Amino acid sequence: MAILITGIAELATCDDELEGADHADGLGLLHDAALVVGTEHEDVATTIKWVGPATGAPAADWAIDLGGKAVLPGFVDSHSHLVYAGDRSAEFAARMTGQRYDGGGIASTVSATRAADDDTLRALLRARVDEMRAQGTTTVEIKSGYGLTVHDETRMLRLAGEVTDEVTFLGGHVLPPGTGRSAGERSAYVDLVCGRMLQAATPHARWVDVFCEPASPHAFDEDEARTILAAGIAAGLLPRVHGNQLAPGPGVQLAVELGAASVDHCTYLSDADVDALAGAAGTTVATLLPGVEFSTRSPYPDARRLLDAGVDVALATDCNPGTCSSSSMSLMIALAVREMGMTPAEAVCAATLGAAKALRRDDIGRVRVGGPADLAVLDAPSYLHLPYRPGVPLARTLEV
Ligand code: NIG
Ligand code: FE
Repeated sequence: MAILITGIAELATCDDELEGADHADGLGLLHDAALVVGTEHEDVATTIKWVGPATGAPAADWAIDLGGKAVLPGFVDSHSHLVYAGDRSAEFAARMTGQRYDGGGIASTVSATRAADDDTLRALLRARVDEMRAQGTTTVEIKSGYGLTVHDETRMLRLAGEVTDEVTFLGGHVLPPGTGRSAGERSAYVDLVCGRMLQAATPHARWVDVFCEPASPHAFDEDEARTILAAGIAAGLLPRVHGNQLAPGPGVQLAVELGAASVDHCTYLSDADVDALAGAAGTTVATLLPGVEFSTRSPYPDARRLLDAGVDVALATDCNPGTCSSSSMSLMIALAVREMGMTPAEAVCAATLGAAKALRRDDIGRVRVGGPADLAVLDAPSYLHLPYRPGVPLARTLEV
């Protein structure tokens, strides 16, 4: 079954090899374009069969006319924490009147999540994934990290695996509530994460992550983070890091040292951090999460500085109950353009191809023959409308 999609005023392919496309701004743009998508068998995922100008489109079994809209790769949200119960809107409100974020509020989400049964968590998770999909996100990475016991981390990972292949073990999120801050108690928890918890998590996860943030008393220092990531790598998981969110710190250098696919937040970077990330282009992506700065009233990361240095940059939501409760990649693009010095084209690339790189995926994040038909359509004629019309629900997943 082949479906011809026409009426595409502007197609952003993010494919730098597509012949005939405009590659000036890195988006591989085609105007008045068409796509053919289809599947050989009903049980096989729909793939892209043909991409090009509408005038050259081949015949198909079925046709859809979008009537002059923009189409782009479905957004890749490469950083989220969607398995949780509870609500921290009051914490958000307190921050807006001056309270600082230090990760302490995570404890309340841990209590609510542990208390919720699987069916409750599953329903909450599925509603959040549906909310993302309705806004044009076609791939989402999901972390554990609100269980912090062997039992609760494992069930979070199992539930995440029901809705995505990109599952991340984050037993090293914060010290569990009630843990004393003595060196002995800290190292006992790190031992648990690297031992029985990791063993239970590994069959359910692709990635291992850690909140490496010595500026927070709740999170992990450089040595603890290295220990957790090294154990995860030894168990066969691929590393990624939360780093440099609240203050300058060791997260970026650690991520580069370990060949992590991504270091996320990157709000406070030294020149040495930027140099290290530039040297690690092709291996380690800097994933920027501007919804966090918006929702914690913090300074935005300097994306321009990173891009000018040649760093690979991604954008993601970090959707979670504490630091950013938005699931909107369109909002992240608007913030990146307005607040972080990115051009609209750079922001769209970072939310698609860049985020795919942050997940070490070369099948998604672009529109290319042979790839999955993961597409977003805008209720607008150009991708420029994403930052131009912030807060307007323009993007949705193109269901074919
Ligand atoms: O990526 N920084 C640490 N973890 C999450 C926030 C978790 C929370 O506050 O619930 C983040 O921002
Ligand atoms: Fe996060």
